[in-house]
Amino acid sequence: MVLLNLGLPHFDKGRLLLVTSWKMASRGVSSLIHDKAYVDGQWVSAISGKTFEVLNPSTGSVVGVVPDMNADDADVAVKKAYQAFQSWKETTAKERSDILRRFYDLSCQHKDELAKLITEENGKPLSAAKGEVAYGNGFIEWNAEEAKRVYGDIIPSSVSSNRILLLKQPVGVCGMITPWNFPHAMITRKACAALAAGCTVVLKPAEDTPLSALALCELAEKAGCPKGVINVVTSCRENAAQIGKVLCEHPLVKKISFTGSTYVGKILLQQSASTVKKVSLELGGNAPFIVFDSADVDAAVTGTMLCKFRCSGQTCVCANRIMVQEGVYDEYVKRLADRMKQELVVGDGFTDGINQGPLINERAVQKVERLVKDATSKGAQIVLGGKRHDKGGNFYESTLLKNISTEMTCTQEEIFGPVASVMKFKTEEEAIEIANATSVGLAAYFYSQDLTQVFRVMEKLEVGMCGVNEGILSTVQAPWGGVKESGMGREGSKYGIDDYTEIKYVCIGGLQ
Ligand code: SIN
Repeated sequence: MVLLNLGLPHFDKGRLLLVTSWKMASRGVSSLIHDKAYVDGQWVSAISGKTFEVLNPSTGSVVGVVPDMNADDADVAVKKAYQAFQSWKETTAKERSDILRRFYDLSCQHKDELAKLITEENGKPLSAAKGEVAYGNGFIEWNAEEAKRVYGDIIPSSVSSNRILLLKQPVGVCGMITPWNFPHAMITRKACAALAAGCTVVLKPAEDTPLSALALCELAEKAGCPKGVINVVTSCRENAAQIGKVLCEHPLVKKISFTGSTYVGKILLQQSASTVKKVSLELGGNAPFIVFDSADVDAAVTGTMLCKFRCSGQTCVCANRIMVQEGVYDEYVKRLADRMKQELVVGDGFTDGINQGPLINERAVQKVERLVKDATSKGAQIVLGGKRHDKGGNFYESTLLKNISTEMTCTQEEIFGPVASVMKFKTEEEAIEIANATSVGLAAYFYSQDLTQVFRVMEKLEVGMCGVNEGILSTVQAPWGGVKESGMGREGSKYGIDDYTEIKYVCIGGLQ
């Protein structure tokens, strides 16, 4: 089995763990579990005193209870982050790098507990959660190194008595809103770039997965991160919008970074306009996954398994529109069906041997049901799956649909579930036209053994990231982000830290 552990250097097999209450001591995560939010270096309740429950999406049991904060709490956190910024921005790059390096070491030491926490609150298989922790820790390490490489510039002036200097300075307090599908890695990818640049952070994690965010605060504190430099405000779904609004409109916040839907991204962008903030948005995709007649079909099927079924299909870069040229269509569908039957095992994330966890919540299952119903009502054929799993709850069957056409809603919206939907095309031009006929442009993938075709297609696809004969793009070294309505800005790589700096141009005159 190739599978689905993703992006990852190493991963162990999942371990059967049956405890489903939130007493996690027996799973070895108790030390990192928190029932308070983290503001100004303190573990705090919501000002209102309210709390909400975090549920395990596999069992429905309560895995934690955290503060249900609102706009007032967010305002306090922003003010504390602003105070902390006054001294954090004065630290040397080496000091920040050393703290991030210790944070990395601690996150590596605690990797198993962090992974179990992810499986508890997100539901993904423990092996995939371990993979995510390795991936996420990679961003801590990377930014510990990048902190020391934020170079300015000296530009030759056309006036002989002048010198032009460029300084790169931290933007200030950064508001961050992170998703539930990678509760660890999406935080480290954003927050560690900000900290490395000398910014401070107020972060609102997804309501489904706040525990991983709080665990990271504990480790950052132990690593020596001063109070107020990183702050996490937790809230239920209903309060998320008011916290987002505070972060976007607060005059003390200078930058917003958000990963999530295009719909919410547009609201945050509008709100951020009132104070002309810098904004980074990693929004929805609708990834085409194109298999040309010239492809190695086995490699394309392997790529599909990885790209489609990672995190049970719940990533922004999962193959959404699988497009297969007519010469290899039947062979591809047959081989994909065989591999899915042999390799995909649905179940609780702690059960040994499973590689497909539940969807995050009931809403997510309903969405997948709606898309499959719409597709079949318009002529799609179910090859495998097609309904809720017998396990009940948030489990959905690994599904393969063929005879997909562009009128079906599953080609227009992100499926965000374990449904591979395959359409047939005739020519390269047609494939590119269909691939680009969408308002978003995050990732695309294609399989071809024809070198001239590889260059033609890669240059024409309207996306920020492109996998050629490769189904997984995630890595700390490469810039992550989209074009069109998939967002703006890049995360990771040597470019990621730029989003957290401002260039100041200094002209020194009179140097006779
Ligand atoms: C995402 O779904 O946005 C993130 C996926 C990744 O970083 O691999």
